[in-house]
Amino acid sequence: MSSPLFSSFPAHRPRRLRQSAALRRLVAETRLSPQQLVLPLFARPGRKVRRPVGSMPGVFQLSPDEILKEAARAFQAGVPAVLLFGIPDRKDAKASGAMARNGIVQQTVRLLKKELPELLVITDVCLCEYMSHGHCGIVHQGRHGARVLNDPSLKLLAQTAVSHAEAGADIVAPSDMMDGRVRAIRDALDKGGLADTPILSYAAKYASAFYGPFRDAAESAPQFGDRRSYQMNPANAEEALREVALDIQEGADMVMVKPALAYLDILFRVKKEFGLPTAAYAVSGEYSMIKAAAAKGWLDERAVTLESLLAMRRAGADVIITYSAVEAAKWLREA
Ligand code: PBG
Repeated sequence: MSSPLFSSFPAHRPRRLRQSAALRRLVAETRLSPQQLVLPLFARPGRKVRRPVGSMPGVFQLSPDEILKEAARAFQAGVPAVLLFGIPDRKDAKASGAMARNGIVQQTVRLLKKELPELLVITDVCLCEYMSHGHCGIVHQGRHGARVLNDPSLKLLAQTAVSHAEAGADIVAPSDMMDGRVRAIRDALDKGGLADTPILSYAAKYASAFYGPFRDAAESAPQFGDRRSYQMNPANAEEALREVALDIQEGADMVMVKPALAYLDILFRVKKEFGLPTAAYAVSGEYSMIKAAAAKGWLDERAVTLESLLAMRRAGADVIITYSAVEAAKWLREA
């Protein structure tokens, strides 16, 4: 910018390159493509089940046959990957449903990989949807109240990841935020003959109020307390870099920052510092805010959605997980 060459030129007129859509496209620094998007899907047992999620218009809890239809639609629109969450029939205090060979996620993965082998299937590895208390780890009720136990939870998370990979998951994505879970999962995968299964770690995952609508969708709200003893404090940025560094040391192949829009500074720093393939998760609350404002006619849904996704790319996201993936892919094709 301050080079002598630059300053000796006649006054630069940035508007010259903004005169037409073609010129603007030619010099765009950031591009957004359907190939960078991942669609989250919520699987629940049954057949022909399509239960709308009240706080997320356009999002449904789906039985595996319906997931297949939705995934096929996404794939056809150019979205290469889905992220699966499971809502089991029964929950308990050791998250048995999470690692069951024939659990809801495992069944759905098998179906998707059989019918749509080219679609990438990423599975969310967590215990909260399967725990009666809704926490992401084992809970111990002690004299000083309830605590989420770290190390005992690792074994369950590792078993869950292995069961997903055995079912055919292309990538496993731990979102629990227990310390050491990436190493535990990597070790278990390697021992299980699954050394080629990559880990996308939710490395910098904040204790965010933007997850509100998701907890309706996944029926995973904690029955007591909150997640602040394991998810990150929104006040911290340096700590995010340490979290990411740890996960990379433990064997993460890709890392994630979550939520996205309110955490673009974190995304920028993580991508700049580590350069690993980095994902941003545009979470449920981000989606619902746009939907609600658009329904009132207060915001242009298409324009705001595409601008938000582009901003995540500009900040450093290689991959964006978004409930708008299919719509965004269609809009991008029309553009
Ligand atoms: C599970 C999990 C959550 C989300 C992704 N994985 C919920 C939470 O941590 O409470 C949130 C996703 C969203 O809000 O869209 N631990």
